Amino acid sequence: MEVTNVTEYQAIAKEKLPKMVYDYYASGAEDQWTLAENRNAFSRILFRPRILIDVSKIDLSTTVLGFKISMPIMIAPTAMQKMAHPEGEYATARAASAAGTIMTLSSWATSSVEEVASTGPGIRFFQLYVYKDRNVVAQLVRRAERAGFKAIALTVDTPRLGRREADIKNRFVLPPFLTLKNFEGLDLGKMDQANDSGLASYVAGQIDRTLSWKDVKWLQSITSMPILVKGVITAEDTRLAVQNGAAGIIVSNHGARQLDYVPSTIMALEEVVKAAQGRVPVFLDGGVRRGTDVFKALALGASGIFIGRPVVFSLAAEGEAGVRKVLQMLREEFELTMALSGCRSLKEITRDHIMTEWDAPH
Ligand code: FNR
Repeated sequence: MEVTNVTEYQAIAKEKLPKMVYDYYASGAEDQWTLAENRNAFSRILFRPRILIDVSKIDLSTTVLGFKISMPIMIAPTAMQKMAHPEGEYATARAASAAGTIMTLSSWATSSVEEVASTGPGIRFFQLYVYKDRNVVAQLVRRAERAGFKAIALTVDTPRLGRREADIKNRFVLPPFLTLKNFEGLDLGKMDQANDSGLASYVAGQIDRTLSWKDVKWLQSITSMPILVKGVITAEDTRLAVQNGAAGIIVSNHGARQLDYVPSTIMALEEVVKAAQGRVPVFLDGGVRRGTDVFKALALGASGIFIGRPVVFSLAAEGEAGVRKVLQMLREEFELTMALSGCRSLKEITRDHIMTEWDAPH
């Protein structure tokens, strides 16, 4: 049957993938309250569409950190994409490039920065996890820069891995025929089987829990790439990110996989946007599955959004064609939402085009 929306890929992926892999992709932390809330919160925001505006021409294009892209819909870093499909990150890179948008490659990709660069032209960001061994980090950042990556998305919500109970039950581990390719030559590319989640053990062994704001400064000293701080959900941390030289902020709760009972990202967004005071762009990821969700995020002040799970699910279902289709469906839905709301360009999308429970009546 024809796939007509992004969410439908999840059920197809569930049928196709081994249980251990599907559960790793789909799960959130602990009670998965935030996982449901990332979706539910969007349904509490309604539209205030404007009528009788000439919407015969609609421009979805925008600029992110100076890079022109076709739409404000980008790809979030998701680890280990070759578990979903043999072409993994290559397929995602090609689909993003074909759609004229940005792909963020995970540190824990099953393809290296060089391999992804070799798939052809495209604007790509590199997501960074900071390892205890800073030589490893410095090398990796240098390789990403040399491979033509344009920005670092520094993930700051993962000093330890969140408690994902499905991964514990399944004894999740990277299948032995795959490698965390960016770390292959550094003896850190394999994941040992553990008594619980192999990934949680890997993180406990390798990731630097001491990471703090001074390290953001250190990172700036070793690269000329701009740094997006990924995982901010409060005004306090927004101000610190700006003070410490972040080029942008990604409002993210890691797809609800880290601390459970944090608010949905769409609820946290406005607080962050206000605290950023227009000094840096604010992006959002988490639960975006419809063009209407994209519009709501932009109306609340986001400069763009990123999608995570829709990429791995569509990759599992149909490879590159699936990821292309997800990007195309979101694009078309978003364009339709703009038309039906009376917006012809992204800058015409305003806070008054939506209403939330906490708004005063107009
Ligand atoms: C992620 N995410 C993530 N984030 C990150 O900084 N580095 C990573 O390697 C990964 N890996 C990863 C794997 C999988 C399977 C998922 C689902 C998520 C988080 C990701 O970048 C993003 O924040 C969320 O996926 C966004 O939420 P949605 O779109 O999945 O709801």
